[in-house]
Amino acid sequence: MDAGARPPLDGTRLAAAAADRLPGMGVEVAEEVTSTNAVVAERARAGAPEGLVVVAEHQTAGRGRLDRSWQMPARAGLVFSVLLRPSVPARSWPWLPLLTGCALGAALRADGYAAGVKWPNDVLIGERKVAGILVERVETPAGAAAVVGVGLNVDLRAEELPVPTATSLALESGAAPDRVELLVGLLASLRAAYDRWQAGGERGQAELLAAYRAACVTLGRDVRVELPGGGVLLGRASGIDPDGRLVVAGPDGPVPVGAGDVVHVRPV
Ligand code: BTN
Repeated sequence: MDAGARPPLDGTRLAAAAADRLPGMGVEVAEEVTSTNAVVAERARAGAPEGLVVVAEHQTAGRGRLDRSWQMPARAGLVFSVLLRPSVPARSWPWLPLLTGCALGAALRADGYAAGVKWPNDVLIGERKVAGILVERVETPAGAAAVVGVGLNVDLRAEELPVPTATSLALESGAAPDRVELLVGLLASLRAAYDRWQAGGERGQAELLAAYRAACVTLGRDVRVELPGGGVLLGRASGIDPDGRLVVAGPDGPVPVGAGDVVHVRPV
């Protein structure tokens, strides 16, 4: 299939579905932007309210975790960013990317995909990455805000995947799902998880930790963690601590890891 054959997002149907099923969220569709995270950050600084969603058919300068770039053919996926203005204490913010991965995984499982989360927030189907998440903090006149960016591979063919360890929903199921329905389901799941977390105090935090542990396919695996400082840690992923860090049982005992690239070492 050439890119031109991929159907555009139906903005009218999306607006109607959003008005019905996404109260408090304003969804905007753009044909091409540099990065939806950059656009939403700019809008946040200009005073946009929580719940703004910008979805783009194509990004020319998409950003990934750890200063990487993120590319996808036009209309082949869902590429969007959500503006949140969390009221929970700043020490809880590191949970936002994990919450997002958990919520996306739940929405995909509800649609029949065997989705899980690789710590911290890659969404996998089986062993293959289907979605990435980049959460960025933005200082705005109304206080700090969070931009939650999601890139989901929907209709990529095998030769279009960025790496051989990635996948797309179409490759997994044999057919490309309707992107409007998919997007609304993902946003509704994210919004519900976020609202529960915001309203739930310690109970909400404990429930999120339990839900994340249940969805996290890294737990129990032998892992190789490439740490931001350049070091490497090898061990068994033995837990998620209350701060959302991955606990790796290495040669010198358990080590909590707050950031890094995790590779699941085979065999399971
Ligand atoms: C990763 O796995 O490295 C995270 C990728 C996040 C990509 C999304 S696409 C929408 C949003 N805008 C960006 O520039 N990046 C995020």
